[in-house]
Amino acid sequence: MLKGRNLVTPDDLSVEEIFELMNLAKQIIESPKEYSNACNGKILGTLFFEPSTRTRLSFEAAMLRLGGEIVGFSEGSSSSAAKGESLIDTIRTVGAYVDIIAMRHPKEGSSHLAARYTDVPLINAGDGGHYHPTQTLTDLLTILESKDTLEGLVIGLCGDLKFGRTVHSLIKSMKKFKDNKFILISPQELGIPEYVKAIAFNGNSEDYIEVERLEDVIDQLDILYMTRVQKERFFNEADYVRLKDSYILTPKKMQLAKKDMIVLHPLPRVNEISIEVDSDERAKYFRQVKCGMYARMALIMKLLGVEKC
Ligand code: CP
Repeated sequence: MLKGRNLVTPDDLSVEEIFELMNLAKQIIESPKEYSNACNGKILGTLFFEPSTRTRLSFEAAMLRLGGEIVGFSEGSSSSAAKGESLIDTIRTVGAYVDIIAMRHPKEGSSHLAARYTDVPLINAGDGGHYHPTQTLTDLLTILESKDTLEGLVIGLCGDLKFGRTVHSLIKSMKKFKDNKFILISPQELGIPEYVKAIAFNGNSEDYIEVERLEDVIDQLDILYMTRVQKERFFNEADYVRLKDSYILTPKKMQLAKKDMIVLHPLPRVNEISIEVDSDERAKYFRQVKCGMYARMALIMKLLGVEKC
C-alpha cells in the first residue's frame, strides 16, 4: 500500500511496488484520458531549491494531466528561504497548503529531514549527489518498454559516477532484480562512492567491474547509461575542466555496440553524447523524458491513493 507514504530513497519501494507503479504507468500511456480527472481537487507543491527542467516540469505536467493543480517555486531565492527561513519551517508551511510535495534540494539528506516535518507524502526530486528515485522510475519504465524485463541485463554506467545521483539510485534499484551485472565506467576520480557500493553490492564484487575505457566494454552491454559530469558539485573548476569530456559517445563507438543495446541518459546532456547519436534507434533518452511524466503520474496517484474516475 503506497497511499500516504514518502519516496525518499530507492529503498522505499519494494520490487512488488515498483511493478505496481510500472503497470499503472503503462495503463496511463495506453489510455491517458481515463486518468484525466484522477486528481481533481488535489494540489501538488513543487519546491525546487536547485535548477531543473525535466523533473519539475514533468511533475507539474503529470499533476495537470491528472486533473490536479500545482503551486511551488523553481528556485530557493524566490521563497522565504532567501530571508533565512529553515527548510523545516518551509516544509511545515507548504504541507499546510498542498496534498503532496516534490522537493529538490542541493543538500544530501534534505528530503529525509523534510519528510519528518510534514504529514503529506514527500517525494525526493533529487537531494544533492545522493539519490533521485523518480528518475529511477523513469529509467525502469524506459527499460521495460525496450527490453520487456528488468532482469538478466548487463548495464554500463558511464561518466560521473561519484556525484551522479541518478546512477546511485538506478544501481540500488536494478540490484533488486535477478542476475543484473554492472559495468562501472569512469575515471578513477569520478568512481562510484564506497558507501553506494557497500549498500548496493553488499561486498559482493562478482556483480560489478570497474573500468576506465568505454570502448573496451561497450560490446557487452544491454544498456548504456551515460551521465553528465556534474559541474555544480565540484569544489575546483580546474578539476571539472580536466574531467568534463572524459567520455563522448559517437556514432563510431555505437558501431561497436550490440544491435539491441539501448542508450539512456537522465539529461541534461552537455557533450557526453554527440547529437549524431540522437537519430540512432537505440538512443532512448528522449523517450525516457516522456516516460518520466507517466512514471510520475503513476507515483502521484499511488501516493495519494486515488483511482481513475
Ligand atoms: N534528469 C533530471 O533530473 O533533469 P532535470 O535536472 O532537468 O530535472
